Amino acid sequence: MSKIPFETIPSPCFLLDEKLLRKNLELIQSIAQKSGAKIILALKGFSMYSSFGLVKHYVPGTTASSLNEARLGALEFGGEVHAYNVAYLDKEFEEMMQHCGHITFNSIAQWNKFKGKISQNTKKISCAIRINPEYSEVETDLYNPCIPGSRLGVTIQHFDKNLPEGIEGLHMHNLCEKDSYALERTWLEIEKNFSHLLTQISWFNMGGGHLMTKKGYDHNHLIEFIQSVYKKYPNIKEIILEPGSAFGWQTGYLVSKVLDVVESGGKEVAILDCSVSAHMPDCIEMPYTAKITDAESNNKGENVYLMGGLTCLAGDYMGPYSFKKPLKEGDIIVFEDMMHYTMVKTTTFNGVNLPNIGIWKENNTFELIKSFGYEEYKARL
Ligand SMILES: Cc1ncc(COP(=O)(O)O)c(C=O)c1O
Repeated sequence: MSKIPFETIPSPCFLLDEKLLRKNLELIQSIAQKSGAKIILALKGFSMYSSFGLVKHYVPGTTASSLNEARLGALEFGGEVHAYNVAYLDKEFEEMMQHCGHITFNSIAQWNKFKGKISQNTKKISCAIRINPEYSEVETDLYNPCIPGSRLGVTIQHFDKNLPEGIEGLHMHNLCEKDSYALERTWLEIEKNFSHLLTQISWFNMGGGHLMTKKGYDHNHLIEFIQSVYKKYPNIKEIILEPGSAFGWQTGYLVSKVLDVVESGGKEVAILDCSVSAHMPDCIEMPYTAKITDAESNNKGENVYLMGGLTCLAGDYMGPYSFKKPLKEGDIIVFEDMMHYTMVKTTTFNGVNLPNIGIWKENNTFELIKSFGYEEYKARL
């Protein structure tokens, strides 16, 4: 971790620590090389394209869940662009085909609808169907693609004995911040029901949710697992993993500042120049409590505060946190691990500005990438 003088960063600011990103990228690249898997970046989790100059040295491409992401991948990242969209739009499909080399469909009906366009396209596009293995270990329903009634992927009862003609791959995504053992257990479930289809494909996309950059992740187990799948299914020439979180995992911060401290109902609340609901929505959706540098997530001791956001949503707060010293106006609050699923999910609710975006470079200098104001707020409305 770089020693960053956070008080010099223009607050609020999503701040990427380039050194930490490179560390993740080196690990991801070495897993890809050792296992033989192709690992690509899921843009839905990390789209900070000012970092793509670095990222593209380590992975061959991106995956998109919309035309905008496919465009971003093609224009700002280059390399391979894969896509899985819940449904493709008629008016967008031509451009989707221009950008993508691999396209995964969420239903047989969507494949039937677009297969004519795929076969007439001058560039070869390899296509897949997303399966729903009806097995998942994700505890939070909001993030579980296999809850009963899930619209994500085709369940086994909707497949014939043979894959539709023209389909070369299968795709699955049922993990969220999971380890390789959860992946292996998923695979065993898939083999129970889909084994006759596994012998008909040349690639399998194992989706995202592989948190391979988290401390304690068993890399060797993942590598051995991937190798064992290649060995068992010689027809599968390519196993693809498309994590998002693993790239941005613990690579940066949301730097913010205390604007005011108020007391209410016996609780102290620090009001910040950012918002939990608008800038860290997963903390409310998941929910989880983000770590703050030099504070503990508890209500022990004398200096206990809730972190209050700038919007008028009553629930726009996080905590309690205990600090070593009382908080006062102007103090810097650094939320950790704020690079994945933050910038892509922010809103300007209440007209609150989006945080700046910046990079703490490997040469220990700060680069301000962007700041936002009225024009960006207005442009969305
Ligand atoms: C189809 C698909 N692929 C990849 C990902 C990326 O997952 P993660 O960021 O958890 O690695 C997701 C996340 O929702 C997804 O839905």
